[in-house]
Amino acid sequence: MQIEPSKQKYEQCLRDFITQIQAIHIDQLERKWITISLLVIGLFVGIITIDAFFHGVNPPSKVETIDSASLHLNKEFAEDNLGVQVDDKGAIIIRMVAGRYSFFPKHIDVPAETPLTFRWVSMDVLHGVHIPMTNMSTMIVPGYVAEITTTFPKPGEYPVLCNEFCGLGHNHMWSNISVIAKEDWTAPVKSPVKGGSNNE
Ligand code: CUA
Repeated sequence: MQIEPSKQKYEQCLRDFITQIQAIHIDQLERKWITISLLVIGLFVGIITIDAFFHGVNPPSKVETIDSASLHLNKEFAEDNLGVQVDDKGAIIIRMVAGRYSFFPKHIDVPAETPLTFRWVSMDVLHGVHIPMTNMSTMIVPGYVAEITTTFPKPGEYPVLCNEFCGLGHNHMWSNISVIAKEDWTAPVKSPVKGGSNNE
């Protein structure tokens, strides 16, 4: 069979490669810095891996498009549908619009220790959103819906910051979310919309 000779060939190649690497003269100091850089890279990859698997920090990979120029005509992101809603399965969905230079609605109340699905869209240019102490950190790209599920660990006021430079008012683009104790929170009375189906 062909398998054995090719395996031997690869092993020979690998041995040659290792011999060649060992033959290269590397200065002691250089060797030290190579080791340090590899350790630093390993540390960063480790942090990213732990965040991804244990803290739910993931890029919003579901590509869902929307026409940013006509958000106000779009059923899902029309003004009346923004903010907190509870769908027919009991899941809490929050629809937010980012625009120079604020997040709309300006203020919302959400429960602590409860999974919340945020759907963000931009009405104009590229924005970002970052909520410290949560996994909420994403770009809000015009033409796309950024969906992230997060949980607020405890009640309090959480800042909502724009973290992508979006113009002269970027520094002032922030708002806040009031997180209240789970048992004190009541769902807003609104008719739920069917998410997404009317998006293009
Ligand atoms: Cu919006 Cu920076």
